[in-house]
Amino acid sequence: MNAEGSEVEVLFSSAEIERRNRELAVEIAGEMGRELLVVAILKGSFVFAADLIRAMHAAGVRPQIDFMTLSSYGTGTESSGSVTVQRDLRDEVEGREILLIDDILESGRTLAFAKRMLLDRGAKSVRLCILLDKPNQRVAEVEADYVGFVCPDEFVVGYGLDYAHYFRELPYIGILKQKPA
Ligand code: IMP
Ligand code: MG
Repeated sequence: MNAEGSEVEVLFSSAEIERRNRELAVEIAGEMGRELLVVAILKGSFVFAADLIRAMHAAGVRPQIDFMTLSSYGTGTESSGSVTVQRDLRDEVEGREILLIDDILESGRTLAFAKRMLLDRGAKSVRLCILLDKPNQRVAEVEADYVGFVCPDEFVVGYGLDYAHYFRELPYIGILKQKPA
């Protein structure tokens, strides 16, 4: 198996992603306070979050950052209805302005769950920032405030996104043409 070979077709290059991150950071800086709490959902969003907070720094934001691991169980590449917290936040969210970051908004179940949980814990506000939107698969009522790119209904990998725990290290987002054995 070779991730750099013919199986992955570049969809968004690292230069495109870098440019888009700068634009998102400027939008976020213009609409949210300087002292926000970034909550990044693991594992998929860690690369995006790492680049976005540095773009936010350049845009004058001073975020704190915490992580949460959520799992939605299902078969294959379909996520099921139930979301569970596998690793909870360490930081206090009460009264905080939160920017919730995830890789993909698809059915919306994961982010609807996370947003409700943060609001139930007393967050002052929760905005959603996602790298990719797959709008045709929505089940839960949730929309993102900041979207990197609208994604075609294909299975994509790279820039933090995985297939069977592979491909997260790719510096671009690509369509997985041929799934590895
Ligand atoms: P949902 O919005 O609750 O359905 O969750 C979407 C999650 O499914 C994302 O956070 C990803 O972890 C995963 N996912 C959906 N589509 C893809 C894809 O094309 N590549 C990799 N992971 C995906
Ligand atoms: Mg995910």
